[in-house]
Amino acid sequence: MRIEPGQVAVVTGGASGIGYGLAAGLGSRGVKIVLADIRQAGLIEATTALTALGVEVLGVVTDVGDPESVAHLADSTMGHFGRVDIVCNNAGVVGAQAPMWEQQPQTWQWLINIKLMGVVHGVTTFAPLLLQHGTGHFLNTASAGGLMPLPTMTPYNATMHAVVGLTETLNLELRAVAPGVGASVLCPGRVATGLGTNSQALEPSVGAAATGNPQDLAGSVLDPAELAELTVAGIAADAVHIVAGAGVAAGAQARMDSLLRDLDLGA
Ligand SMILES: NC(=O)c1ccc[n+]([C@@H]2O[C@H](COP(=O)([O-])OP(=O)(O)OC[C@H]3O[C@@H](n4cnc5c(N)ncnc54)[C@H](O)[C@@H]3O)[C@@H](O)[C@H]2O)c1
Repeated sequence: MRIEPGQVAVVTGGASGIGYGLAAGLGSRGVKIVLADIRQAGLIEATTALTALGVEVLGVVTDVGDPESVAHLADSTMGHFGRVDIVCNNAGVVGAQAPMWEQQPQTWQWLINIKLMGVVHGVTTFAPLLLQHGTGHFLNTASAGGLMPLPTMTPYNATMHAVVGLTETLNLELRAVAPGVGASVLCPGRVATGLGTNSQALEPSVGAAATGNPQDLAGSVLDPAELAELTVAGIAADAVHIVAGAGVAAGAQARMDSLLRDLDLGA
């Protein structure tokens, strides 16, 4: 999709990290931003910072796990800007690390509600608006953990695989009825953000400990601004998968090799 000044992008989880980086990257291209986050204080800080950068921005407190809250986000977007072109379903959290048999049901429910159903609510709410417009794009944030196994992170791993799968299918469904509307899934490796800290603050009983990065992938840590540039280029190129970070391609390749080897054995 061609990104142009005057377009409007909604970014969930936009108060921090990858979402904030995307908002700043799109905003620097003249795209107007609707910044959505569950943390009101963080949202005020982020909208103030974007405004100082010259970005036209509206902040809307939103819980992506609640369909009514996402409907309010869409109403606010249309009421304020009158259009929407890009929807970044990016909000997310991470749970405590443990082998699958020690993961708590609350951790599963929390991650499924935000990381999977948050994307579902974003798509079901905004797809009619993009289709009516005839052009537009969804960017769903998953993770390298949606392309390979991530030991000690099964709830995260499972929801990220789900977001990769639903986005591949969604893109085909959208293109079939409106060739100018599509979807991409963002699968980064490690990114320097406050994911662990924010998750623990939001849900102290199940959020990941603030120490260290939750994603145990080899290689360097991406900067959110650098990731935003790669992502904007990926959207402009209509890439279905936007993959970034050291070790991610090798991990995904190893998973595919293992699958193909097992298929060969069964043949
Ligand atoms: N940081 C990494 O290494 C990394 C790697 C791959 C994928 N990701 C994914 O990227 C996305 C963004 O994470 P980040 O690393 O920028 O973390 P972050 O904590 O900096 O940003 C996530 C934002 O989402 C918000 N949020 C949480 N629950 C919400 C809800 N219910 N409704 C609305 N907003 C909510 C948080 O308040 C926070 O501002 C997540 O989905 C994460 O899983 C992160």
